[in-house]
Amino acid sequence: MSVRRPIPAICAATKTPRAIGPTMTDGRLAGTTERITKDMSDRLKAEREAAAARRNLLTQDAIERTGITEEMIGELVTRFYGRVREDALLGPVFAIVQNWDEHLAKLRDFWSSVVLMSGRYHGSPMRAHLPLNLVGGHFDRWLDLFEQTARDVCPPAAAALFIDKARRIADSFEMASATVAGRIASPRHVLRS
Ligand code: HEM
Repeated sequence: MSVRRPIPAICAATKTPRAIGPTMTDGRLAGTTERITKDMSDRLKAEREAAAARRNLLTQDAIERTGITEEMIGELVTRFYGRVREDALLGPVFAIVQNWDEHLAKLRDFWSSVVLMSGRYHGSPMRAHLPLNLVGGHFDRWLDLFEQTARDVCPPAAAALFIDKARRIADSFEMASATVAGRIASPRHVLRS
């Protein structure tokens, strides 16, 4: 007579099999669960390593194509936010930033993740912007300053990549901000010359 073995339940948080019911008391089944758990964690580790290797290749490729370096990102972020803080329209919006060293470090990680795929930024930028009640004029000014700074700091191919990414992200923030305020906005910056 065949013995029906329970299928181990998968834990939603860890994605590994959970030991339940008979697995706790039956040595054979508990051993099976342990083996499955180990196989899955080995596979997850291998997948994480493969993803890191792919990211490194993408980073190398981006560096070779554009000449962007972490130093260049640092210079762009420092100069851009220096201008933003002095700007009559944007400066007051940024008064909520409590710790500028932390903010600049976060923005360096953000841009490193965006243009070099370094995976260093783990925040939620959309959520940070929705409460700021930003409107079209804010985005126009932010992009003007960002684009001027990118052209001052970076060679053309690098500046073009930063500017393209910034316009796309600004458009997505602008459309989301409009939706939250009950308006409809379309992407205005991504296609401008
Ligand atoms: C109208 C233009 C914009 C204004 C006035 C603005 C303003 C701000 C302010 C005040 C913060 C700090 C929020 C806080 O500490 O709670 C912030 C955070 C941030 N901004 Fe903007 N922003 C603008 C557009 C953009 C764009 C276009 C990008 C990206 C291309 C961007 C990227 C970020 C990031 C990554 C953060 C950090 C979010 C986090 O806490 O993880 N911002 N911005």
